Amino acid sequence: MNEAQAKQRIQALTSELEEHNHRYYVLNDPSISDFAFDQLLKELEQLELQFPEFADSNSPTKRVGGDITKKFASVVHDFPMLSLSNTYSKEEIIDWETRIRKIADGELEYACELKYDGVAIGIRYVNGALDRAVTRGDGSKGEEITANVKTIRTIPLKLRAGDYPEDFEIRGEIFYPLKKFQKLNEERSDAGEALFANPRNTASGTLKMQDSAVVASRGLDCYLYGVYSKASIAEDHFTSVDKAGKWGFKIPDAAANMIRTCRTVDELMEFINYWDAHRHGLGFEIDGIVIKVNNYRQQEELGYTAKSPRWAIAYKFKAAEVTTKLESVTYQVGRTGAITPVANLSPVLLAGTTVKRASLHNADQIAKLDLRIGDEVYVEKGGEIIPKVTSVDMQKRDPNAPAFSYISACPECGTELIRREGEAQHYCPNETGCPPQIKGRMQHFISRKAMDIEGLGAETIDQLHEEGLVHNMADLYDLQRTQLLPLERMAEKSVDNMLAGIEASKEVPFERVLFALGIRYVGETVAKKLARYFHSLEAIKRAALEELVAVDEIGQRIAESVVDYFEREEHIQLVDRLVDAGLQFSIPEDQLADQTDKLEGNSFVISGVFERHSRDELKELIEKNGGKNTVSVSGKTNFLLAGEGMGPSKREKAEKLGVQIISESEFEAMIA
Ligand code: IVH
Repeated sequence: MNEAQAKQRIQALTSELEEHNHRYYVLNDPSISDFAFDQLLKELEQLELQFPEFADSNSPTKRVGGDITKKFASVVHDFPMLSLSNTYSKEEIIDWETRIRKIADGELEYACELKYDGVAIGIRYVNGALDRAVTRGDGSKGEEITANVKTIRTIPLKLRAGDYPEDFEIRGEIFYPLKKFQKLNEERSDAGEALFANPRNTASGTLKMQDSAVVASRGLDCYLYGVYSKASIAEDHFTSVDKAGKWGFKIPDAAANMIRTCRTVDELMEFINYWDAHRHGLGFEIDGIVIKVNNYRQQEELGYTAKSPRWAIAYKFKAAEVTTKLESVTYQVGRTGAITPVANLSPVLLAGTTVKRASLHNADQIAKLDLRIGDEVYVEKGGEIIPKVTSVDMQKRDPNAPAFSYISACPECGTELIRREGEAQHYCPNETGCPPQIKGRMQHFISRKAMDIEGLGAETIDQLHEEGLVHNMADLYDLQRTQLLPLERMAEKSVDNMLAGIEASKEVPFERVLFALGIRYVGETVAKKLARYFHSLEAIKRAALEELVAVDEIGQRIAESVVDYFEREEHIQLVDRLVDAGLQFSIPEDQLADQTDKLEGNSFVISGVFERHSRDELKELIEKNGGKNTVSVSGKTNFLLAGEGMGPSKREKAEKLGVQIISESEFEAMIA
């Protein structure tokens, strides 16, 4: 390929990929498979490497991140980023409406929107290309976080054709979708890390990360709510938001009542009441609704106070909240030794469920709340599952209540707690002697995503530990039938099941064994990366810090944790015993040769009979190439691999769900 051809192909791929991106993320209406998309992206990546002079700073390859920002530059906003005056009272909304109706000239129309609970962002576009993205900061200047914002798939890097001004800014709110947030916390819990408290702060923290690849992996999203330009775009807000949608931005869906125009107070109340009742089904958090005077000329006329526009107001929803008595604080010890304080409350009804406990996160949180035992505390239920204590009713405080003192020793084993620099959590360092840590590690070891030992559950681990039969995971492989039969609730059949399950776990592949060890920060994904890069535990054990950091997606913190783990004699001994027991500590040679990630992220259903491969062979090929096998077609299926005699119902379902149906030869081409 010569230079001119390369340039042309890069441009063609860039616009094609951006279009597919828009269809997939903004319109939810993809027209090609994820696999085909990835192929195009890989082609572009290759060409950009080969011809860096034609690589665009807004290339779709920026979506996966990789740019590191050491320090975010401070940028003065072209238009100050104001806040909204807000209220919790419907009467005040009525007062506001009456007031501005008197000031403004002519009939008033309002645009009602959701008040997204995230992080405000201002994004500038020059000649249709994303130029820079800046946080709100103090309102007059913010931080430039362009590289991170470019990874958010719903924010266009290049605009689609349209009548946008040459130079303009669009503002909106970046937020953490609730499903993604829950998944992140599940992964953190699997990796033994402290959980994030709420989606908003996590979105904010994510946007300030130096490595944009991590930001890309988090799945942040963004709704746009205002266009700012010296040139005129439209006569009113509603129309300009609608236009922004046509340029490629994700805007609220009017058909789903996420934005509407109103003319009367009754209509405003209708909108408020609708969202107060329906907000929990949105999949992201909102904390109220925003009412804006729709017409720009009238907005000008109404003007601004020092902090906020007179032409807009936010109505905030009251969070589901009650007060109750703080009876006591107890402390949970996790499998990594992390201490989590829990508030024990007088039972109280909150949003339909009885609440007895609430999370307090860590010592700093307790200090910030200035808690005392016996306090009347406010408990709130947000988007998270566990309710939280938000504040104390100081009027009701007993003046003689003693100040709160956080524990300094482990509640389970009495060892003095430590707190590492820069971390909020206290830890019990008694890894090998502290019962909940010992049991927690074994429970993690046998769990479904780790060794998945059938016939053995968390309670049995407790029982075996209490009976003195197991102290660590290696002990499981020494268990004898005769030791187990005399125990309570251990029938012959369950003992046999358990032993068979333990035996079968010796076939669990290396990456899951590595995850099962429970090394801090080594969650499922990290374990997979390490296993596929190093191929054996021996190699990981030998790897120096620099070597570990060089692996894709392995940062300093993870690398240090791995090195620390293998520096401890008891870990070496434990692993040696597991090796002797016959667990998989490497990827077998024959699998290594043809392992790829060509099908990474794709899930397959195989159906029918094939010419050149048996179904088991196909399954193996899918796994070797990083894909996933599932049994039935669902919304999560990417491909239905169809052979001779496949049932018509499967085909129908796949067609209905838009799952791509491929033949044996098409499949072969994918992994070729
Ligand atoms: S309009 C001049 N619309 O709320 C005011 N703001 O206190 C311009 N927010 O930091 C803001 N959803 O980030 C507007 N639909 C919406 C919004 C919204 C959330 C945030 C915004 C700002 C804060 C205002």
